[in-house]
Amino acid sequence: MKKDTTTITDNNTGRQLELLLRRGTSGPAVVDIGHLYHELGYFTYDPGFTSTASCRSGITYIDGEQGILHYRGYPIEQLAEKSNFLEVTYLLLYGELPNPQQLDAFTATIRHHTMINKSLERFYDGFYHDAHPMAIMMGVVGSLSAFYHDSTDIRNPQHRELAAHRMIAKMPTIAAASYKHSIGESFVYPNNNLSYCGNFLNMMFSVPSEPYIIDPVAEKAMDVLFILHADHEQNASTSTVRLAGSSGANPFACIASGIAALWGPAHGGANEAVLHMLEEIGKVDNIPAFLARAKDKKDPFRLMGFGHRVYKNYDPRAQIVRRMCHEVLDSREQHKDPLFELAVRLEEIALSDDYFIEHKLYPNVDFYSGIIYKALGIPTQMFTVMFAIARTVGWVAQWMEMIAEPQQRIGRPRQLYDGPGRRDYREMNDREQA
Ligand code: ACO
Repeated sequence: MKKDTTTITDNNTGRQLELLLRRGTSGPAVVDIGHLYHELGYFTYDPGFTSTASCRSGITYIDGEQGILHYRGYPIEQLAEKSNFLEVTYLLLYGELPNPQQLDAFTATIRHHTMINKSLERFYDGFYHDAHPMAIMMGVVGSLSAFYHDSTDIRNPQHRELAAHRMIAKMPTIAAASYKHSIGESFVYPNNNLSYCGNFLNMMFSVPSEPYIIDPVAEKAMDVLFILHADHEQNASTSTVRLAGSSGANPFACIASGIAALWGPAHGGANEAVLHMLEEIGKVDNIPAFLARAKDKKDPFRLMGFGHRVYKNYDPRAQIVRRMCHEVLDSREQHKDPLFELAVRLEEIALSDDYFIEHKLYPNVDFYSGIIYKALGIPTQMFTVMFAIARTVGWVAQWMEMIAEPQQRIGRPRQLYDGPGRRDYREMNDREQA
């Protein structure tokens, strides 16, 4: 039988090397270069990982050319329409949709872990009131690693599962507390009679002195946004979690590292940046000037919420969020949010512009998500926190998958060294003076 390989030739030596092609269930085959250094003495060089599969995974599949996203084989459109966040969480963690008993048991487990330790609450006082909530999240989630000594043996599957459940359950509580701290209000404890998103809304917006009624439109919209943000294969924050976890680090510390990576404006910070950008653009008449800036290579300005490393087509999540924007805004008083109208016009103009067409730049998930969050009353600084709550599920699922792999090894990339060659230490008196 013909071997599934590809052969490379070293033009310097004439040596040929046959490399194994590994094929997944979907997507391009990968060239296994594990023996390249041993055989030919070369490393590969791909700094932004544009052509590198960093791991094997059975969780999420993206076809960037077609604009396709699947969780465990299920199209994102079907999950967004028919499922709910905790069911999708189960799917991502365990690989299959739950039956009713499994979903009930899982929901009860997550509800059981929503509280945070009293000592942890005191950590918030160490943060100044105007600290960015993502900074608080990083600190507080990282500090979870100082608690829960009953689940630190990552080689034990029960410990891993317990840590996973705690992380997913506590994230909304920690996030809402970050917000309450920033506005100087008392924390609201979780109410385990509520849904995952209803509970979060209640912890964010209720006060002890008044009744709070959860808006079903807000609860549903948030649930869908959480589904859309739950996982996205080996993006920057997930790869960070995997790399941190590959050394055997504490799982809560690994998730804190994911929060750090997510915060950047090129990644999850984009939803906050989009709102700032739309406010800066201000009105439709100003769009051409900002588009010109986005196209000018000397200007660092980019159209936030546009472009994606993988999608060279419309981000399928953005299609759903755009539709949802209409539904949410129609249900509110700010029916005509000028920022939404501006965003729609900006999208239209950009998508008919040669630069954006040639560069295959389309709106990504974060172009419209901030507009929905704004309509739900979520402050701009909390947008990336919302992303972090949802993405925790993906981080945890990917971490669990990695640790369970029998061949799991520490991630240790190499480099192309271009610093100085060997040289001898010079005594202070021998060095050039300024
Ligand atoms: N506005 C203007 N030009 C852009 C944009 C943009 N938003 N995005 C990419 N380009 C251009 C680049 O200037 C570059 O042009 P060139 O080839 O003529 O030099 C080309 O498109 C490719 O861009 P890269 O930066 O090389 O693409 P990369 O895959 O590394 O970056 C990224 C992807 C970071 C998402 C980029 O498109 C970007 O900065 N977008 C804005 C930020 C954003 O919305 N991030 C959220 C991503 S989704 C998420 O993480 C949830």
